[in-house]
Amino acid sequence: MNKRFYITTPIYYVNDIPHIGHAYTTILADVLSRYQQQLGNNTFFLTGLDEHGQKVQDAASKRGIEPKDHCDEMSKRFTDLWERLHISNNDFIRTTEKRHKRVVKKILKVVYEAGDIYEDEYEGLYSISEERFITDKEADTGQFRDIKKLKEKNYFFRMSKYQNALIEHINSNPSFIQPVHRKNEILGFLRQPLNDLCISRPKSRLNWGIEIPFDSGYVTYVWFDALINYITASGYLDDKNLFDNYWPANMHLIGKDILTTHAVYWPTMLMSAGIELPRSIFAHGWWLMGDAKMSKSSGNVVNPMDLIDDYGVDPVRYYLMREMVLGQDANFTLKSFINRYNSDLANDFGNLLSRISTLIKKNFDGYIPEVSSLGHKEKKIILQSQELIKNFDDNMSNMSINNAIEETLQFVRNINRYFEHMAPWKLVKEDLKSAGIVLYTGAEALRICAVLLSPVMPQRIKTLLSVLNTDSVDRNWGGLKSGTKLGEHKPLFPRINSDIS
Ligand code: ME8
Ligand code: MG
Repeated sequence: MNKRFYITTPIYYVNDIPHIGHAYTTILADVLSRYQQQLGNNTFFLTGLDEHGQKVQDAASKRGIEPKDHCDEMSKRFTDLWERLHISNNDFIRTTEKRHKRVVKKILKVVYEAGDIYEDEYEGLYSISEERFITDKEADTGQFRDIKKLKEKNYFFRMSKYQNALIEHINSNPSFIQPVHRKNEILGFLRQPLNDLCISRPKSRLNWGIEIPFDSGYVTYVWFDALINYITASGYLDDKNLFDNYWPANMHLIGKDILTTHAVYWPTMLMSAGIELPRSIFAHGWWLMGDAKMSKSSGNVVNPMDLIDDYGVDPVRYYLMREMVLGQDANFTLKSFINRYNSDLANDFGNLLSRISTLIKKNFDGYIPEVSSLGHKEKKIILQSQELIKNFDDNMSNMSINNAIEETLQFVRNINRYFEHMAPWKLVKEDLKSAGIVLYTGAEALRICAVLLSPVMPQRIKTLLSVLNTDSVDRNWGGLKSGTKLGEHKPLFPRINSDIS
């Protein structure tokens, strides 16, 4: 039976220039979504933009334009990048859209009517850069800029009321927060009494936000607004069928920076509104440049556009997916990119295709040879391919994407060794039929690897399959048809000559 799979990325701040960190989360979601689709599941993949708040208002006023015009202009940088990266999202949500404002107002009303929103005067330290009140302890860390003392009336969400229910939910749903060290981090955080959450901002201070439905003097705090995007886009108010089908989301994919908002604010908001909680929240680590987190302010942003221009989209996708162990941080260096590209893609993978197609063209007029009988070695390869698929699926369901890819490449290396052992370039002269069996076996093994890697490198794999003259994305042995003619091709992954490596 087909299952459904709803996956989301964070909605990124519209004001920032998209960098490889944003690209990473979105590509990862794209890979998982394409993989689920390949398994025959109904996928819904959502990404989008977070467009309200102080920074957007300030940036727009500095430019002397309306915040909405500013957002429209900035949003294009993200949508252009997603197009270039071949992101296959099913919907793109912007929090300034009507459909979203309606849902935020509705949720505020429901939560208000449940008695979970109250008014209070609050005096404390406010961080302008973080757009929230901070505790004295936080202020002491020195990590917050632009702090001032502020006293104002605001609306608060009774988050504390749901503390025990949340702990209970986390404990009885082991995969709710992943990986497990992130779950423990949240459980640790929940050992202290949970504060209520300030969810409003007075318009006198900020008006670029969604108006609170029961007090026109206030707008909604950006995080309360932003998190709701996940139910807006899945049809909470507009499309009951869609919502019943796709909610609760299977996975909110996020970076570790926004774990608390997703694993504490969001589930307690949903509890108050009487909506089911998402199945899982998965927080990945940082891409680091050297030792520093990549960020615009530190100036160490690798522009994914430049890498794509130089080496192509799919090698960048491949590198990001292969190099990060999900849950840990990873180091981005141009040197490791080039090494990875040359060894995995040019030498192992691309080279296997070149070997096969050169020999078939030279000795079989370009037609995929017949297989009359299989030897011991070929039977073993078929078994190995079945094992590979099983391990691949296990790795994918454990979010061990780097291993899923690495084991596929190991199989490719096995096939290259099988070629060296069988030496089909010699065998063609002695026993053409046996040479044909070797070439078919290599080509079919390559096809299966290609199908497995297609969620990671959709474009290049499409080219490869067209060279093999097949559109079979069947993962079982035998998809390749003897007697079909191979297509022409240039090297799939031309070697990068560089002094860096
Ligand atoms: O936090 N390495 O948006 P944001 C890996 N609008 N991933 C990175 C990264 C890095 N160096 N830098 C950024 C927000 N990311 C809110 C979200 S959701 C309801 C609202 C990725 O533009 C990672 O996914 O700051 C991180 O969580 C996200 O970008 C933060 O994007
Ligand atoms: Mg951020």
